Amino acid sequence: MASFTQQASVLLLPLLFQGILCVGPSPEASHVLGTHHPAGEEPLSFRLLQISSFANHSWESTQGSGWLGEVQTHRWDRALGTISYMLPWSQGNFTKEELEGIHAILQLYFHLFPGQVQARASQFQLEYPFVIQMSSGCTMRPGKASEAFLYGAYQGSDFLSFQGYSWRPAPGAGSRARDVCKVLNRYRVVKEVAKNLLGNACPRFLAGIAAAGKAELERQVKPEAWVSQGAGPGPGRLLLVCHVSGFHPKPVRVRWMRGQQVQPDTQQGDVLPNADGTWYLRVTLDVAAREATGLSCRVKHSSLGGHDLIIPWDGYHILTVLTCLAIMVTLIVLVVVGRWFQKQSLAFPTEASIQHPRSLGHQLYLAQKSWMKNRFLKEGKISLSKL
Ligand SMILES: *[C@@H]1O[C@H](CO)[C@@H](O)[C@H](O)[C@H]1NC(C)=O
Ligand SMILES: *[C@@H]1O[C@H](CO)[C@@H](O)[C@H](O)[C@H]1NC(C)=O
Repeated sequence: MASFTQQASVLLLPLLFQGILCVGPSPEASHVLGTHHPAGEEPLSFRLLQISSFANHSWESTQGSGWLGEVQTHRWDRALGTISYMLPWSQGNFTKEELEGIHAILQLYFHLFPGQVQARASQFQLEYPFVIQMSSGCTMRPGKASEAFLYGAYQGSDFLSFQGYSWRPAPGAGSRARDVCKVLNRYRVVKEVAKNLLGNACPRFLAGIAAAGKAELERQVKPEAWVSQGAGPGPGRLLLVCHVSGFHPKPVRVRWMRGQQVQPDTQQGDVLPNADGTWYLRVTLDVAAREATGLSCRVKHSSLGGHDLIIPWDGYHILTVLTCLAIMVTLIVLVVVGRWFQKQSLAFPTEASIQHPRSLGHQLYLAQKSWMKNRFLKEGKISLSKL
């Protein structure tokens, strides 16, 4: 990596000594800024993610993105070699000069990284196709000094990390990771830049962008929830599925309950992003069909202000039974009442007696009809919302 150091030294040293990375309050001072943190308790991170796929010796693709907590704030535009600021407040409170300094370092990094990996692939026995992922940034916790991190993964497994001032192989990553770290540790300039970016620039940037994005991070959107029956379980069993969607922020707690009793076999999926920046979660429970009655899905979320959503499974199930019952009862009543009227006054035709405003049959019929109409409308709405 001799060429890398040379190029890096030439390009990075001026940046370092321009003071872009070195000025500003010490990392210790940044913990005071933790009060900007919206949730108050939860740690908040700013992180850069990189995914580089190497198909063969001549083909590579790298994606880079910046994230404040769960909100994507930046994207690396590969074609232009520039940072795309995805939200109006993505620049935080850094000055134009500071941003240009960071920009220059990232440009250099994204320019050099693929070539260096390709050049070293055989030395480190990297086998095509392979994927390298990097996650770097810093975390702030109220009342504590900020923490920096930089992790690298190879083929989806932990490979190395940067801690303090040195590269360390991940436990279990083997001799290849040890060799890579040994080589990386020789390059002081790279370590200097990494240390300053992570330990100094990052906490200051995080404090600024967290304050700028406060409203977005604190946005409260209530979830919608519904239940349905999933496919898959064996005979005599039901897979109860509780869907929760459209909520923000991401933390949510969804459980299948019997009364106040949490069902321990509740299976939770990943919280997935909706296109509008809200979240979706699916929580299932595999039960014996006869034990499904009395179960309900309970949703706790900060937007609900303590009023948990409770969706009974019976509501779903019993609605169908009730509808069938209602239809049968209506038919029987109509037939019986109709017969009775026929017997009482043979002079009136059946239809006329039903249409008579004061007839019992007519009133029952109307009541049933409007009830059924409402039911069907409601059910229609529920099934529509399930789509
Ligand atoms: C390298 O991989 C790319 C993408 O899969 C492919 O299009 C290209 O033909 C490959 N080149 C060589 C030399 O194998
Ligand atoms: C950005 O904001 C943080 C916290 O609000 C502050 O400590 C820092 O000095 C600000 N930086 C600039 C360049 O204004």
